[in-house]
Amino acid sequence: MSRQPELVPVSIEVNGTVVDRSVEPRSLLVDFLRDDLGLTGTKVSCELQVCGVCTVLVEGRPVSSCTYLTVDADGLRVTSVEGLSDGKTLHPLQEAFVDCQALQCGFCTPGFLMMSKALLDSTPEVEHEEIVDHLEGNICRCTGYQPIVEAVERVAAQGRVDS
Ligand code: FES
Ligand code: FES
Repeated sequence: MSRQPELVPVSIEVNGTVVDRSVEPRSLLVDFLRDDLGLTGTKVSCELQVCGVCTVLVEGRPVSSCTYLTVDADGLRVTSVEGLSDGKTLHPLQEAFVDCQALQCGFCTPGFLMMSKALLDSTPEVEHEEIVDHLEGNICRCTGYQPIVEAVERVAAQGRVDS
């Protein structure tokens, strides 16, 4: 007879709202967001911390949610791509991605957006090379990367990083 794993209570602020749930100790943050909370904007692919599509922010810092335990986010602030827009207006990064045609299939886009937000929050006047370096862990199969870097540069040049 298989035993059910003991559940662990967690209280996590997700996109500005505190959610209280009980999760398995092995629950991964990406599954918690997607399956428990229905926030399917965060994608999952390699599950090995190499492609960047699952990137979310924990206390403002980018993490690969495919290898981050939900219990480790207990008491912390998590931002997923759904938290970028206020529901009416796009975040400046989202706007710039559209304007620069920095996405095609869009699968990698949530990860790039979150990684870019972390960069601009910490380094508002970021240089081209820093953007390239910062995004090198995120894989895109469609765009060739240049439009993505251009989009981030555009937001940095506009000084609209806090939105
Ligand atoms: S799915 Fe997490 S890094 Fe690829
Ligand atoms: S837009 Fe398709 S993988 Fe990046």
